[in-house]
Amino acid sequence: MNAQNPQGYTGKHTADATTVEEGLAIQEKQAKFDDDFATETAMQNTLLTPRFYTTDFDELDAIDVSSVRDDWDKLIAQMVSDPNKGHFKKNEDWDHVDWDGMEPQLKKEFIDFLISSCTAEFSGCVLYKEMKRRGANKDITQLFQLMARDEARHAGFINDALREAGLRVNLGFLTQSKKYTYFRPKFIYYATYLSEKIGYARYITIFRHLEANPEHRFHPIFKWFEEWCNDEFSHGEAFALLMKTDPKLTSGGNVWWIKFFLTAVYATMYVRDHQRPAFHAALGVDPDWYAHEVFTKTSKLSEQIFPITLDIDHPRWQRSLERLHRANVAIAEGKAAGGLSGKLKQMGGSIRAALAFVSLYTIPANRHLVPDSTRLEPVY
Ligand SMILES: [Fe+2]
Ligand SMILES: [Fe+2]
Repeated sequence: MNAQNPQGYTGKHTADATTVEEGLAIQEKQAKFDDDFATETAMQNTLLTPRFYTTDFDELDAIDVSSVRDDWDKLIAQMVSDPNKGHFKKNEDWDHVDWDGMEPQLKKEFIDFLISSCTAEFSGCVLYKEMKRRGANKDITQLFQLMARDEARHAGFINDALREAGLRVNLGFLTQSKKYTYFRPKFIYYATYLSEKIGYARYITIFRHLEANPEHRFHPIFKWFEEWCNDEFSHGEAFALLMKTDPKLTSGGNVWWIKFFLTAVYATMYVRDHQRPAFHAALGVDPDWYAHEVFTKTSKLSEQIFPITLDIDHPRWQRSLERLHRANVAIAEGKAAGGLSGKLKQMGGSIRAALAFVSLYTIPANRHLVPDSTRLEPVY
């Protein structure tokens, strides 16, 4: 036993792994300390929990990036230079966390946040690693190897934080046992691009808020969010370039799909965050303000490639999000209550949730011209 690894594992750290294979092998060795509760939580598949994806890897492998070659090479060179190698591990900035003294509701919500974030990071890792393994196109396999490397580190670091609370997600078990959802490549682009960019916007908004209000930093992991979100930013840039290689992906009928994914990703974030009131109160963040802030940043970024953005200032937007949230609470209550009345409550909630989603989706979108070059820098 030592202070760094209280549950007995000593060895190379995931932060220093230079490939995804190495990162996962380290986590595999630690797996005997894994925790059933955390893994079971990560195993859950609902509309709101992070999923694992699979796709048509051959189609992805056939992408030709020559039309975006200059931007592509610059982005890859920056990722190869690996500015965050060794960053994602505890150091002297890691303050002691008083898990036993933490207010129980905050502890519950924060652990839920960590498990869900770890699952989401690992979901990216598994998808990117599989693409790298199946592909033969050097550009594509190189990109996916680099992104998988980053996500393995991110997941490993969250697991470090969970371990201090006596929990750990068994990533090897998840890879084998969690259900995989098939998405056509174009849906992978929309969904993954958005999840990388919204991930950036979420982390940087919390980071800047805590920079200004350090008394609300109740856990040291938030100090790592700046470099963290820069990784996600680069991943988003890569997907923007992939989409740029085929103009059909962001025009014609596909714009309706883009609108669908924008609405689904924003609405999911809103509902999920509103399930964690104590967590946001501890951060000193109003979840409605936070959602609006993150949507604004994500919309601004996604103008690099999407010809529309959602009208988040439309009077129906906030109202419908609140309806969706309330419907979701009713579904959860119905599920918990069980029996016939519980079932009815669940059904009623599901209908109201669907109507609220339709109300969001049918708000007219803002249209704009997409720039010739997609490349952006993280400026928030
Ligand atoms: Fe990540
Ligand atoms: Fe990422």
